[in-house]
Parts: sequence; C-alpha cells; structure tokens
Amino acid sequence: MPDDKTTAQSLATPLPHSGRSSGRTRAFVNPPLHRGSTMLHVDTADRLHDGSRMYQQSDTYGVYGNATHHALENLVAEIEGGTRCQITSSGLSAATTAMLAYLRAGDHCLVPDSVYGSTRDFIDDLLNNFGVVTQYYDPALDAAGLAPLFRPNTTVLYLESPGSHTFEVQDVLALAALAHEHGAKVLLDNTWGIRHFQPFQHGVDVSIQALTKYPVGHSDVLLGAVIVNDDADWTRLRKAALALGQYASPDDCWLCLRGLRTLDTRLQQHFSSAIEIAAWLQDRPEVKQVLFPALPGAPGHALWKRDFTGACSLFGVVFQPEWTAPDLNALIDALELFGIGSSWGGFESLAIPTYGTITRTASSGDFGGLIIRIHIGLEDPTDLIADLRQGFATLHHHRRST
Ligand SMILES: Cc1ncc(COP(=O)(O)O)c(C=O)c1O
Repeated sequence: MPDDKTTAQSLATPLPHSGRSSGRTRAFVNPPLHRGSTMLHVDTADRLHDGSRMYQQSDTYGVYGNATHHALENLVAEIEGGTRCQITSSGLSAATTAMLAYLRAGDHCLVPDSVYGSTRDFIDDLLNNFGVVTQYYDPALDAAGLAPLFRPNTTVLYLESPGSHTFEVQDVLALAALAHEHGAKVLLDNTWGIRHFQPFQHGVDVSIQALTKYPVGHSDVLLGAVIVNDDADWTRLRKAALALGQYASPDDCWLCLRGLRTLDTRLQQHFSSAIEIAAWLQDRPEVKQVLFPALPGAPGHALWKRDFTGACSLFGVVFQPEWTAPDLNALIDALELFGIGSSWGGFESLAIPTYGTITRTASSGDFGGLIIRIHIGLEDPTDLIADLRQGFATLHHHRRST
C-alpha cells in the first residue's frame, strides 16, 4: 500500500473556481470563448501605449493573448505556485521557448540524459547550431556529483524529474542551490509532477508544463506553459515568447480550462489505479523492477516521498533480461484495453516499448532488461489487470512458439 502522503493535499477547491467569474452574478458558469486578432483602440493615445502592454494582461493584439488565454494563464500560474505564465502551442514549445529565453551563443547548459526525446532533438538539431554548448549529465547524479560539471559560462541547469521513460527523481532542492551558487538559472520540466510538486518551493526559476497531458486530460489538444515567479524572469520569458510568435488557439485554451476543473479528481483516480497496478506488476516473476517513484521500494521513492504530495499514473516496467523485444512486442500487441500510442495524461491507458527509441549518452540507460512505458487511464483497474494478465499469458505463449 502507498504511504499516507500519497493522498493529494486538499488543493482541489480552487480549481473549479479560479480563472472564471464566480459568485452571485448572472453569468454562465464557464467564461466565454474569445477569438480574434485585431483589437480596436479607444483613440490614438490608447494605441500609443501598446508597447508596454505586452507584459501585462491587457489586450491589444491577438498574439498578446485575450481574456480566454489570461484565464488559463492565471489558473496554471496558481497551480504551479508562480506569479506569471506564458501559454505556448505545445509542451515541446514550452521547453524550447524557456531555453531560448535563457541561452545565448557561448553559454553552457547542463541537461539530464533522461530529458524528453523531442527536447533533446531540439538541443542537438537546432540549439547547438547557435553556439550554445550543451552537456548531458547522468540524471542519477547528486549535487556533489554534478558540481564538477559547472563551468564559468554555465547559465542554465535543466532538470526533468522524474526523467522521461526511466523516471529518475532528481534532488531539485540541492541541485537548484548548487546552480544558484554558480549563477545559473534552473529550468524544470515539471509535467509529471503537475499538482504534486511545487517547483518554486524547491528553488526552480522556470517551470515547464506540457498541458497536453493531465491538464487537458482528454487527448484532444496540444498545449504548453512556462511559469515563472519573478518579474525579471517574466520580462525575459515574455520577450522570447513574443519574439518567437508563441501563441495558442483560444479554443484549445478554453478546452484546457475545462479539463483543469476536474484535474484533481482525475489525478486521484489515475494514481489510485496506477499504484495498484504497479504493485501487481512488481510481484510478477517476469518483471525485474517497476520504475514508479511513488511505489515503495522503487528507485527514487525516498526523494519522491520527501518532495511530492502525490503522483500521476505514468511509469516504466523493466522486464527480466531473458525477455526479448519480440516477446514484449507480443505482450503489448495482445493488450486490448491499452492503446499503443505516444503521449499520456488522457483518460485512456497506453503501453509503448521504449527499447530502440531512447538515447542516452551520459549514462548507461541499462536497467538490466527492456522497458515498457505504461500510462494508466480511467478504466477500472481490475479490468486493466485482467488485460495485463492475458498479455503475460501471450508473452509465455510467444516464447514457447519461437
Ligand atoms: C516530459 C514531457 N515533456 C514535454 C512533452 C511535450 O509535450 P507535447 O506533446 O505537448 O509537445 C512531453 C510529451 O510527451 C513529455 O513527456
């Protein structure tokens, strides 16, 4: 059974109420959807103030955002415990916008080897062409291990905790303190930790969220957010976002606002099913290890217990070394309730092979067996376990028939 602390803190009440007008007014429950590019000014004097307004939530042109964007910005900033939020077109663009805001030619940037694959592609295929020197580091390094990697020109320490596909939990508090000693900014991809990890209480300067996942929650919208907690950081981020033309459709923002109303309720169900299924998987003889920091005994559990107030439902399953890729492909193909698809955080369960798809250059990436990544959706966990059980039967059948 999970520890007591796995129960989400009672943060749920603000979500149905923030980012909309509530109380005794004659209005629909949800805010209206605003669309548009051109805003008309009152007079020329009003028009001349435009330049300074790009940093405020004052509508002057579509790309600066309108009331629909601002409602979402405010709610996401509140969830992350920051002051300001920039909405971006996807989770990936949230990561790239944040990096472009803080890095310039000649800078050195430290990035965990477990970083989300497309963020890694951005770094390798684009960012490095502009004279930024990126160094990947083993996500298992603690502050003492990471300290020698800092250089005089290290301006950004990038974190992703837990890491993509392999779920290493980083000691954000200690690593952020180290980065600040070296004058570097701390950027964290906090997508997995939504609602259960407060980035700014752990020394983070810039938090990145793929709202596509649990906030949207229905696998029908791509959206991202960058959240800061300081005016200087906001100016820097906002300048970069506008220079890049970062914008998201108001329709998508509205859908995300709708999704956020039920985020806590969904997360509780996702988590309670995930912890039950992860424990069941951990007891299977075919499984070497479950990479779910919330599971007692799993890697990173102590740090998770210290820093997180709960968890989502995305984890990895390491199989015993005798199971090959064709065996595991047969298991995944046999599943009826788990889709084979990228992304996570939707209502549906997913299972994907990670072998052959992840890159590691600063750490071994060897967990002693092949890894399947599982996302637990909102189906009944008993049905999901039954489906996995028949998947395991197919695994053995496949081995016998080859
Ligand atoms: C940890 C993490 N960050 C960022 C992203 C990117 O989000 P999006 O798909 O919205 O671009 C993903 C997507 O899977 C992710 O897993």
